[in-house]
Amino acid sequence: MDKIHAAITGVGGYIPEYVLDNDELARMVDTNDEWIMARIGIKERHILNEEGLGPSYMARKAVKQLLRKTQTDPLSVDALILVTTTPDYGVPNTASIVIGQTGMQNAHGFDLNAACCGFLFAMEQAAAMIESGRYQKVVVCASEKMSSIIDYNDRSTCPLFGDGSAAVLVEPTTEDLGWKDSILRTDGKGLPYLVVKGGGSACTPSYYTIDNKLQYLHQEGRTVFKYAVTYMSDLSAQIVARNQLKGDALKWVIPHQANIRIIEAVANRLELPAEKVLINIQKYGNTSSATLPLVLWDFENKLKKGDNILLTAFGAGFTYGAAYLTWAYDPK
Ligand code: ACO
Repeated sequence: MDKIHAAITGVGGYIPEYVLDNDELARMVDTNDEWIMARIGIKERHILNEEGLGPSYMARKAVKQLLRKTQTDPLSVDALILVTTTPDYGVPNTASIVIGQTGMQNAHGFDLNAACCGFLFAMEQAAAMIESGRYQKVVVCASEKMSSIIDYNDRSTCPLFGDGSAAVLVEPTTEDLGWKDSILRTDGKGLPYLVVKGGGSACTPSYYTIDNKLQYLHQEGRTVFKYAVTYMSDLSAQIVARNQLKGDALKWVIPHQANIRIIEAVANRLELPAEKVLINIQKYGNTSSATLPLVLWDFENKLKKGDNILLTAFGAGFTYGAAYLTWAYDPK
């Protein structure tokens, strides 16, 4: 019997309307466009600022677009992996809300939290489900309302992040396409350097957590920067070497969009020509787990059947990984 591969067969996305640009940020904290562009490379980010809306709202929009584009009956979807670090509620999971709002009631759904590396971890699960032969259609949707955990008085974190969502459909193919190889890791060293301390069960919400701003993301930027560059370049180099992806064999590289200097440092270490590296950080910022599928969504019209693509990401934990896939369809 032919081997079953797991291929991405469509992409949907949603970015909230409200644009928070660097000039507006400069009126909120002591910063300026020049500093942010030089150190981070983000011009603007989109914020979900309507009251009462969470990542399920953006995921619903992204999934509906995906189902429309791929002409997929929602009832034919077998599973939804909803990737988020910023769930709507502690209980229930965000996947259940999205399933209820998109008519995918024959699917089971679960949330996956691996911070900025979540999309890669979820794709690995989706690929294993499809390759097992037991699943025909798996939706992987990453959706993040990073603005809900950002302190807009802290100039060292608030320029970095934005909100957004993107979803992919994963289906079986017997062609030599789809998810080919991956190296995924979690080192367990990240807690002191990248953490939201308050609001979980270890430190439940209280006057203390609010007074000390523990509901917000705390990071040691320089440490995070160093680990991000080292881990993403090391694992990417291993994927490139063991799959002989040197030169023309590798068409595109999609790095996690955290900071333009991190992207450039990874590209330099891998000696990648700039035109192979797909970047949209300038307009969305770091949308955590949603950055990789948002790049696929933005550049979908450039991707051709047979293109080999390297993806790499790094996030809190620390979680990190690199993966290689062969794109399965031409621009429509
Ligand atoms: N505007 C102006 N000045 C600022 C700003 C700002 N927004 N933020 C910090 N500064 C100042 C600091 O106060 C400091 O001033 P000082 O020298 O007078 O004390 C100076 O700039 C340098 O600060 P550093 O923190 O040393 O600057 P650095 O070059 O490390 O850049 C940054 C900071 C951008 C956060 C960088 O460390 C970084 O990008 N780290 C990675 C963080 C990241 O990507 N996190 C995302 C989560 S994980 C992930 O997705 C990979």
